[in-house]
Amino acid sequence: MAEQVRVAVLISGRGSNMLALSEYKRRDPDRNYEIVLVASNVPAARGLVVAKRLGIRTWSKPHQGLSREAFDAALDAVLLEHKVELIALAGYMRLLSPAFVDKWEGRILNIHPSLLPLHKGLDTHQRAIMAGDAHGGCSVHLVTAELDSGPVLAQAQVRILPRDDPASLAARVLEAEHRLYPAALDAYAATLRENRPSVGSSR
Ligand code: GRF
Repeated sequence: MAEQVRVAVLISGRGSNMLALSEYKRRDPDRNYEIVLVASNVPAARGLVVAKRLGIRTWSKPHQGLSREAFDAALDAVLLEHKVELIALAGYMRLLSPAFVDKWEGRILNIHPSLLPLHKGLDTHQRAIMAGDAHGGCSVHLVTAELDSGPVLAQAQVRILPRDDPASLAARVLEAEHRLYPAALDAYAATLRENRPSVGSSR
């Protein structure tokens, strides 16, 4: 069987989804992915501390003062250095440049806290409640040039209760995210792994 797919997780904050991805893999080392790097545009991101404690390599660089293209070029270089094959955005609060998205086409996944195509962008839980939706939820999707608009790979629904406010709904959706994302990443990595050219074949 081919090597596990080398994943970088990109974060900007607390990194609870990153932790869920790591725990899922730790519980069953035979999963199709391995996290080789956690990278961030926020050097003070709490998730970087968590990643270090888990023994995962980390990289960070403040994006302030850099153009989107310049920051993404630095990120791209570190991803190549770690032989990353697949990127998992997990609370990465920075838009990626079109050139970066183009280069990594089909190789960037994101978790978004709504049932896409509903409620793209921010404040998803508040908007779901205000719209009178019966369910909130989360979606794992491929990243394309348009924000939160790439093909959806997996979704989980969370019922909206009459007493819900954005914070209570967000907490239950986050639990659903922690179940959904690892399984979806593993399934996607499995397809990459199966289709990866074996050593010796020309690429
Ligand atoms: C999650 O709600 C995720 O859906 C969104 O950003 C949040 C990140 O949380 N994209 P965490 O950093 O993984 O705890």
